[in-house]
Amino acid sequence: MVKNQSEIEKMRVAGKLAAEVLIMLGDFVKPGITTDDINSICHNFIVNELECIPAPLNYKGFPKSVCTSVNHQVCHGIPGSRKLKKGDIVNVDITVIKDGYHGDTSKMFYIGKPSVQAKRLTEITYEALKIGIKTVKPGNTLGDIGFNIQKYVEENNFSVVREFCGHGIGKEFHEEPQVLHYGNQGEGEVLREGMTFTIEPMVNFGKKEVKILPDQWTVVTKDHSLSAQWEHTILVTKNGYEVLTIRPDENI
Ligand code: MF3
Ligand code: CO
Ligand code: CO
Repeated sequence: MVKNQSEIEKMRVAGKLAAEVLIMLGDFVKPGITTDDINSICHNFIVNELECIPAPLNYKGFPKSVCTSVNHQVCHGIPGSRKLKKGDIVNVDITVIKDGYHGDTSKMFYIGKPSVQAKRLTEITYEALKIGIKTVKPGNTLGDIGFNIQKYVEENNFSVVREFCGHGIGKEFHEEPQVLHYGNQGEGEVLREGMTFTIEPMVNFGKKEVKILPDQWTVVTKDHSLSAQWEHTILVTKNGYEVLTIRPDENI
């Protein structure tokens, strides 16, 4: 669970490469693009430019190289022929494997100008991720992270999805521990220097309940309200955290 220096160095590389995919993608995510186009652009960049493996492809039978979750889709959306149109919001979730180690990160994109509601949900969800990250330091617990995220989201009258969570990450895509985005202060595992895990809150505009579509992957809100998600891969450092998948435009 705690990584050694050479593993941490590989996690840094994988994280940086995953971030580069989201940076590259920004120029392409415009009205008219399909989620399959997003998948192909990312797949080709990951394989040919970054010389990485796209971790989702064939993971437990997932058929594509990235997840694309549009509007009321919460996570694990399968890229397809759907054309994105003005006003849509989409989460693109990238996981790459480099030299045996994983980097996992996602962000929201606006297609054209978002509605006031979509913008607010997206911004509150990003702030919730940042609040979770800022809770990371040795001695704090996983429960502290979940508590702080849940408190902020609920103060803003949105809801936290319970069925999916962040996760330890390293040689495996999903390792121990589970990182819940809700919880109680002081509960759960104590954070230790060298742990690497993701924080990836899914926040719904309406009720917290979700269901899985018949494709067996796509998670949607039961009430069809909008949902947003952001994700980073985090290293616990001596005094706090390092965001392994940070992009240059971010200040965390
Ligand atoms: N990247 C997702 C996560 O953050 C997992 C996607 S699993 C897949 O954990 F199979 F859908 F790709
Ligand atoms: Co992810
Ligand atoms: Co993840």
